[in-house]
Amino acid sequence: MGRREQYLDRLGIVRWTLRDATPVPESAAPVELPAQAGEAAPAARADAASWDELRAQVRDCTACGLHAGRTQTVFGVGNVDADWMIIGEAPGAEEERQGEPFVGRAGKLLDAMLKAAGFDREQVYIANILKCRPPNNRDPRPEEAAACSGFLRQQIERVAPKLILCVGRIAAQNLLGTDAPAAKLRGRVHHHPDTGTPVVVTYHPAYLLRSPQEKRKAWEDLKLALRVAAEQPQ
Ligand code: URA
Repeated sequence: MGRREQYLDRLGIVRWTLRDATPVPESAAPVELPAQAGEAAPAARADAASWDELRAQVRDCTACGLHAGRTQTVFGVGNVDADWMIIGEAPGAEEERQGEPFVGRAGKLLDAMLKAAGFDREQVYIANILKCRPPNNRDPRPEEAAACSGFLRQQIERVAPKLILCVGRIAAQNLLGTDAPAAKLRGRVHHHPDTGTPVVVTYHPAYLLRSPQEKRKAWEDLKLALRVAAEQPQ
């Protein structure tokens, strides 16, 4: 059994096979999506001059109410020259404890998904919409996402990935500035509004843990992401 097959077995899914050179489908064309209403303006702050300064800005941020309850911020982790950037919603309790995104159960499944696509976790860059943990795992509020959006934009600009894999509806809606439902977000290529980076949306691994029958569709998303990244200039 090959390495990919072993990973897919570990994911608990039927063997997924890559069909080479499949053209990106028509439905992968960029789509215009309506902006979300009622978003607060992001806090005015000059862009950081370096990764260290950006990290310090995040560490010291008090732009929304979440700072009051945090033990530490969760900045992001991985290869700052990565081809793929993974963007989730917000840190959970374990992520806040370790100061790293996707280190809990969902993170282990994310690692397996990345392996199936041919990446070690260290090869990609992983970040969240929010850098602080919302209480009781609630969804990010628009004003919290807006206050954090400049940090994420700077991370995307600095990594300059070929592709963003956005995991989960909430992360995708915030990243793309839309309230479109999950069914409209998956299966096509979007573009990050600020940087133009191609974005593919897939299920959140926490959802896949609850609904393993959807892993097959997640693999379709990963194959789309692989094709789109392969089409980007070197
Ligand atoms: N879920 C997310 O969206 N992000 C994390 O970092 C962990 C769980």
